[in-house]
Amino acid sequence: MSIDTPLHKRAHHKQARYDRLFQRLDGLCEGESDTITLMATIACELNLAFERFHWVGFYRNMGDRTLKVGPYQGGHGCLEIPFDHGVCGKCAREQTLQNVPDVAHLPFHIACSSTTRSELVVPVTDNQGHLLAVLDIDSDLPDAFDEVDERNLARIASYFSRVSRS
Ligand code: SME
Repeated sequence: MSIDTPLHKRAHHKQARYDRLFQRLDGLCEGESDTITLMATIACELNLAFERFHWVGFYRNMGDRTLKVGPYQGGHGCLEIPFDHGVCGKCAREQTLQNVPDVAHLPFHIACSSTTRSELVVPVTDNQGHLLAVLDIDSDLPDAFDEVDERNLARIASYFSRVSRS
C-alpha cells in the first residue's frame, strides 16, 4: 500500500485487519469471562495485529480512584495512575474514549516512553457498566488513530461486557 493510496482504501485495508483480529479474538475468547485472561489475550493479539502500536495494555480500576497496570505488551508502563493524572486517568474519570493525536501538546500526559507521539485510551466496563479498566494504546507515530480505530477499539471493550464484578 503506497502513500498515494486514497484514504478510503487505506481505511478499508485497516478495517480488514480489524475484521481478522476479531475473528481470532472471537475464537480465543469464546466462553471466557476471566478478566485477566481476556486482557492478556487481547493485549497480545492487538499488539501483533498492528505495527504502528508500540504499547498496548490495560490499567485496572482499583476502586479507590487509582488505576494499576494490568496485562500489556511493550516496554514497561508506569505501575499506578491516579484518576486525576494522565490520559488514562481522564478516560477513567469521564468514562469516554480519549484520542490524543499529539501527546506533546497535552501537559497532563504521562510519558512512560519518550518516543510516544500519539495515544488512544478506551474505557472498559463490566456487564453492569462498572469501570473495570482502561485500554491504552500508544504509537511512536503522530496522529496514529482515526475513527476506524476508535470504532473498533470500542468494540474490543465489548468482550468485557460478559464479565461480572466479584
Ligand atoms: N500515557 C499514559 C500513561 C500510560 S503509558 O503511556 C503506558 C497517560 O498519560 O495516562
